[in-house]
Amino acid sequence: MAELIDPFNRKIEYLRVSVTDKCNYRCGYCMPPQGAHPEGRHTEYLDYDEIARIVAAFADLGVKKVRLTGGEPLVRKGLPELVALLRQHKGLETLALSTNAHYLDRYAQPLAEAGLDRVNVSLDSLRPERFTAITRGGDLHRVLRGIEAAQQAGLNPVKINMVVMKGTNDDEIEAMVDFAQTQGVEVRFIETMPIGSAGISVMDQHYPADKILARVQAHVGDKLIPLVTRSHDGPARNYRIAGSQTRIGVISAVSQHFCETCNRVRLTARGVLALCLGQEESVNLRDPLRGGISDDALKELIVEAIKKKPERHHFNENVHNIEFRQMVSLGG
Ligand code: GTP
Ligand code: 5AD
Ligand code: SF4
Repeated sequence: MAELIDPFNRKIEYLRVSVTDKCNYRCGYCMPPQGAHPEGRHTEYLDYDEIARIVAAFADLGVKKVRLTGGEPLVRKGLPELVALLRQHKGLETLALSTNAHYLDRYAQPLAEAGLDRVNVSLDSLRPERFTAITRGGDLHRVLRGIEAAQQAGLNPVKINMVVMKGTNDDEIEAMVDFAQTQGVEVRFIETMPIGSAGISVMDQHYPADKILARVQAHVGDKLIPLVTRSHDGPARNYRIAGSQTRIGVISAVSQHFCETCNRVRLTARGVLALCLGQEESVNLRDPLRGGISDDALKELIVEAIKKKPERHHFNENVHNIEFRQMVSLGG
């Protein structure tokens, strides 16, 4: 069976598919205050059949996990229809969604019925007013209802992503661990990365993963047991709190990058294959698709594209030279 191996001998098994670059929230590390207002006609975006064709090609080339992202994926109409289309491919082991959960209350059940396996939810504060400030208008109570709806629909494990920002929400690390324990969710603490609209300025808020882990350990008064990472897992380092089933993760893209085990590429809503979150290399798949390319030639194009995957990002040493890209169009 064909496989996707990049020039650094990494096997690509995970495709992140952004279905829209629009979002109903405006988190400061991701979007400018006025929102992104992406330009472009409706037809610039891949339709669901086109996404399904590209995903099928990747699945034939050994991709095992697909994650739907945005912007906020649930602002695009009829997402369960896309899930149902993608679920037809037997090669896919995991079909997941990353969402801010604002609309999840309504969509959890239809998504589960269409064949979605699980969801990750962005949640940076458990205090209603602070949550509204961070997201510039978000509604914590709706998000919490969305998380419960996901659990009831069986979209488990629900993983919570908390971007830890010094001076903004770092005083809630312990509260988030408690939330994981009482709510039965997994929590991942994420280092702020210099890639959203705020660019380098967000690095003033950077809070390193080793400090986060020390705080968690002090709070639970017990050991964190490292868990094994499998080949198509995401970038988190995961732990179990000794004496409980609660799992905690850290995503330390800045202080300890994980590029040497990178197993993923991204498809933007406009059909561009982006080879690294922190670099510019990309290949347009939409135009050849609309030009009538055959399935075999599409796979060949993808195999060639993977040869352009960069070795790593350069957030740390090269940070001032990065041309900051809109996080929102890459879906994280
Ligand atoms: P799981 O499959 O549940 O492990 O999901 P995931 O962690 O792969 O996906 P999610 O959408 O929840 O992303 C969590 C965080 O990891 C986000 O902040 C992403 O931006 C970040 N992330 C994902 N992939 C990469 C990557 O290739 N490089 C970097 N630097 N960060 C990444
Ligand atoms: N740094 C770290 N994480 C980010 N995300 C968005 N922008 C950034 C950033 N600059 C996260 C969101 C979401 C995930 C898909 O990406 O919080 O959980
Ligand atoms: Fe929207 Fe997610 Fe960006 Fe926040 S991080 S503005 S929820 S896309």
